[in-house]
Amino acid sequence: MNETIEIINKRRSVRAWEKTPITPDHLNTIIHAAMRAPTAGNQMLYSILQVDDQQKKDKLAKTCDNQPMIAKAPLVLIFLADMQRWYDFYGSSGVKELCEKKNLTYRTPKESDLLIASCDALIAAQNAVIAAESLGIGSCYIGDIMENIEIHREMFNLPKWVFPITMLCFGYTKSKNKNPKLTPRFDEKYIHFHDEYKHFKKEDFDEMFKIPIEEFNNMKKKPEDAENFGQRFYLFKTGADFSVEMERSVKKAIKDWNEAKS
Ligand SMILES: Cc1cc2nc3c(=O)[nH]c(=O)nc-3n(C[C@H](O)[C@H](O)[C@H](O)COP(=O)(O)O)c2cc1C
Repeated sequence: MNETIEIINKRRSVRAWEKTPITPDHLNTIIHAAMRAPTAGNQMLYSILQVDDQQKKDKLAKTCDNQPMIAKAPLVLIFLADMQRWYDFYGSSGVKELCEKKNLTYRTPKESDLLIASCDALIAAQNAVIAAESLGIGSCYIGDIMENIEIHREMFNLPKWVFPITMLCFGYTKSKNKNPKLTPRFDEKYIHFHDEYKHFKKEDFDEMFKIPIEEFNNMKKKPEDAENFGQRFYLFKTGADFSVEMERSVKKAIKDWNEAKS
């Protein structure tokens, strides 16, 4: 075991931090670790938007599915999938005119570009998480930044070829939380396949979800709307209001992204 693997293996999401601001040195290390991440064609199809304004943090705490911890995070970074910078550059380089002259189609960003830019942004984000962890700075992803696209566009002046794919909240981990219990993972056999995809049957799922199924079955007061753990989980996550809002917001963002003109 080396130090890097130890840091990866002991990390868990931290949602309450010391109030102390992140030092400029540590911030610099986190941003530069993010920027050392590999990116498709080394194009760096992402931007990092640091939210310094407390009023904006307060608003994010509401627009990201009401998570008050966001307002208390000493450092908030939004990772933007960003094709805008390249298209601004292409615009300033006369690429459209070249395409017209050569009778080529001037390709504008589509879903494929959004996905590859999102890969770049997320890989950079995870570098930031691991770098922060090594400095005693705990973090938590906020996927709900994908919701309420209209509000977030206005708050941060985001153009159509920029999409907030994830947000990270950081702060120094409280000393009492330095060695927390790790969040469990599924057994490797459900995650790591060889050569082809594998479907699972009810008996496999009974084993895979053994602990939460037992917890559900042992609940004194069962929820009225769910007969088993699977039904309860669906209602709580996949079918919940925040997922419905994320679906709406992402659909709108993709539509605008595909239809935007340079
Ligand atoms: C893409 C993504 C989005 C997430 N969004 C949230 C969120 O909105 N709020 C939150 O409290 N945690 C969020 N998390 C943290 C997960 O809940 C957490 O990573 C997961 O439960 C595993 O726990 P661990 O990170 O402690 O190992 C998110 C994580 C990821 C990777």
